[in-house]
Amino acid sequence: MNGMPPSRSVLVLGASRGIGAAVCRRLTAAGHEVIGVARHFPPDRLPDASRESAFTPVTLDLADLDNLPRRLLALQREHPRIDTLVCCAGRGRFGCLEEFSCDQIRALMEINFLAHAFAVRTFLPTMKSRGDGLLVFIGSEAALAGHQKGSIYCASKFALRGFAQALREECARSGVRVTVINPGMVRTGFFADLDFAPGPEPEHALRAEDVAEAVALAVAAPPTGVVDEINLSPLKKVVIFRKED
Ligand SMILES: NC(=O)c1ccc[n+]([C@@H]2O[C@H](COP(=O)([O-])OP(=O)(O)OC[C@H]3O[C@@H](n4cnc5c(N)ncnc54)[C@H](OP(=O)(O)O)[C@@H]3O)[C@@H](O)[C@H]2O)c1
Repeated sequence: MNGMPPSRSVLVLGASRGIGAAVCRRLTAAGHEVIGVARHFPPDRLPDASRESAFTPVTLDLADLDNLPRRLLALQREHPRIDTLVCCAGRGRFGCLEEFSCDQIRALMEINFLAHAFAVRTFLPTMKSRGDGLLVFIGSEAALAGHQKGSIYCASKFALRGFAQALREECARSGVRVTVINPGMVRTGFFADLDFAPGPEPEHALRAEDVAEAVALAVAAPPTGVVDEINLSPLKKVVIFRKED
C-alpha cells in the first residue's frame, strides 16, 4: 500500500487527559477509529462521549512492564486494524539528580520511554508487513536540549526521540512513517504536582488542542511524504515557580 487510507485505526497511549485526550477528540472528529489507553477514564473526561462508537477506552497501566507485552498483544488481537500508534503517556518529575531515588529514576524512564518501546515492538511488525503504519511520538522541548533539574526527564525524552530517529531509518523502505512532536509547555494536568507551571496568560502555554492539531497533520500526511518532526512553542515563555529553592 502506498498511501495513507482516509480512515485509520489509532491507538493512543495516555488518552484520558491532557494532550492524549485532545488527540482522541481531534482524530475521532476527523473520522478515525481511536482506541485510548490509560489507567483511569473518569466519566466526565471520556474523549467526546457523544461519539463513543469511534472511541474505545482501554484501562491499562503502561508502567506494569512485566505484564505489558502480554496485555499489548491481547489488545492487538482485539483490534487487528490498528495502523497508527500515538505514544503520549508520560509524566514529569524534576529536580537535581541527587533528589531522585533510584526507583524514581527507573519509574520515569519506564513510563516516558520503555513502555513506548514495548508498544512499538508489539505493533511495528504488522505495520511493516502491511507496508503501512504511522508512529507518532510526543517528545518535548526537553528532547532537544538538556535543562537544569531535568536530567532524568530530558534523558527519557532524548531516549524517545533517539528511538524514533533510529526507527525512521529502520522503517525507511517499509512504508511506515515516524513523526516526533516536541511541544514546549502545554496547559494540562502535567503541572499539578510540579513546583512550576506556565504563566497565567493564554499565550504562556500551548493548548492540548494545538498539539493534537500537529498529530492530525502527521496523520493526514500526503501519500508521498511523512512529517518527520514538529517543534511547537508557546508564543511567550513565562514560567511561574510555586515555591523558592
Ligand atoms: N504538558 C506539557 O507541558 C508537556 C510538554 C511537552 C511534552 N509533554 C508530554 O506530553 C505527554 C502528555 O502529557 P500531558 O501534558 O497531556 O500530561 P497529563 O495531562 O498529565 O496526561 C498524562 C496522560 O498519561 C497517562 N498515563 C500516565 N501514566 C500512565 C500509566 N502508568 N499507564 C497508562 N497511562 C498513563 C495519563 O492517564 P492516567 O493517569 O489515567 O493513567 C494521562 O492520560 C507526556 O509524555 C509529556 O511528557 C507535556
